[in-house]
Amino acid sequence: MNAPAAKGVNQGVAPVTYGQGERPPRGDYASAAADYTCAQRWGAYTPEQHDLYRRLHQRQTAQLPGLACDEFIHAVQHLGAAGQIPRFEAINDKLYPATRWQVVAVPGLIPEEAFFALLAERKFPVTEWLRTPDEFDYVVEPDVFHDLYGHVPLLFNPVFADYMQAYGAGGLKASRLDACELLARLYWYTVEFGLIETKQGLRAYGAGILSSAGELRHSVRSPAPRRVAFDLRRLMRTRYKIDSFQATYFVIDAFEQLFDATAPDFAPIYAEVRTLAEIEAGAVLDGEREFRPG
Ligand code: PHE
Ligand code: CO
Repeated sequence: MNAPAAKGVNQGVAPVTYGQGERPPRGDYASAAADYTCAQRWGAYTPEQHDLYRRLHQRQTAQLPGLACDEFIHAVQHLGAAGQIPRFEAINDKLYPATRWQVVAVPGLIPEEAFFALLAERKFPVTEWLRTPDEFDYVVEPDVFHDLYGHVPLLFNPVFADYMQAYGAGGLKASRLDACELLARLYWYTVEFGLIETKQGLRAYGAGILSSAGELRHSVRSPAPRRVAFDLRRLMRTRYKIDSFQATYFVIDAFEQLFDATAPDFAPIYAEVRTLAEIEAGAVLDGEREFRPG
């Protein structure tokens, strides 16, 4: 009898752990390696796809000033000429010397253990495929534009880069502690939808915000959502929305805060948080300070 495959090892089919959607994840899982990485078939992108990427990049970059944090704005240029889908190798030529991170291609969403393992090795998985033109404004699953444009610029920041690796290692540990749901909230409310307080006002650093045409302005300027100070336990108790703009954002004061607040052993924190009531997205607790829109 064959031993069951280790969790997080590619079996050549799309992972079933994800997707409430009616269709399976896009992407060619059959040609990916055991760790789910694959080659970026750059030559297979069509001129129309390069053009769509260019339009996504342009639309987003035009609205960064005053809404995105400076670290992101400065690093976006490392993605190279906006005119085409970047070659991952070209990004790595700059990224690796800067922070010892690399981007690696994957067919699409991968199981969380495989994801954590790559992050722990300072490898950021980037989806190979690009959304279709009718998904210009919104795409359900992360594509190459979200993954590259949203996530890669901050990997050039040394503190954020170390946080991402620590998150990966923390994910492998959370898998053993059956705490991935709590840890996923940390990723969601920081890496994907985080805001940072700067001298100039609130700014976005989360990739889900920075790759979104509408949520960038909404997250920083709209009076609708709640914006509360980053607090690890408060955050781990808070549910999140996957099908609309966020109702709550957590605000850090520096990337060092993120790194330092997540350094302690999470085992007792998971145990404690499990005893506390969950908080709905959009709820504010008694006496909780809210940040004003930027
Ligand atoms: N300190 C966490 C733990 O012990 C690991 C971690 C670090 C998780 C950074 C997330 C981010 O589990
Ligand atoms: Co993302």
